[in-house]
Amino acid sequence: MSRRACIAALLAACALAVAGCGGGDDAAIPGADPSRAQEVSDTYGCGACHTIGGLRDASGRVGPELTGGDGHRAIAGRLPRTPGNLQRWIRTPQEIAPGSLMPDMGVTERDARDIAAYLSSH
Ligand code: HEC
Repeated sequence: MSRRACIAALLAACALAVAGCGGGDDAAIPGADPSRAQEVSDTYGCGACHTIGGLRDASGRVGPELTGGDGHRAIAGRLPRTPGNLQRWIRTPQEIAPGSLMPDMGVTERDARDIAAYLSSH
């Protein structure tokens, strides 16, 4: 391989590596499928307690609105709203804020990841 081809190959590998990491943007959750948000909300009844923009049957008022302006505050006033913290909160709110009105609902890892990805991008 010529030296020039070698450098070109290295640059291409580099670009792929950056794309693979989502460019370091923590709004992206590897492997998540935000299009499952409706299904997840229906399964656990998130929408009965929360207003979630873009989803059907999600205009609850027990908990905070999860999208729009309100959707950018700290989680339960305690945790920075990163995708990882959203997943943790959705699976174990009672561990993070004992006595919170949001119950632990046995949300699976995959379901938490997919709805967290939706919330992170809305
Ligand atoms: C029984 C009502 C109820 C259900 C069902 C419920 N939540 Fe909550 N949720 C709450 C309440 C109340 C809070 C506020 C918690 C606090 O501040 O202690 C909350 C907080 C949150 C927060 C943090 C938002 C913020 O601004 O503080 C997220 C994210 C969230 N819920 C997601 C979900 C998801 C996803 C589901 C479905 C898997 C769900 N919730 C189901 C009541 C509920």
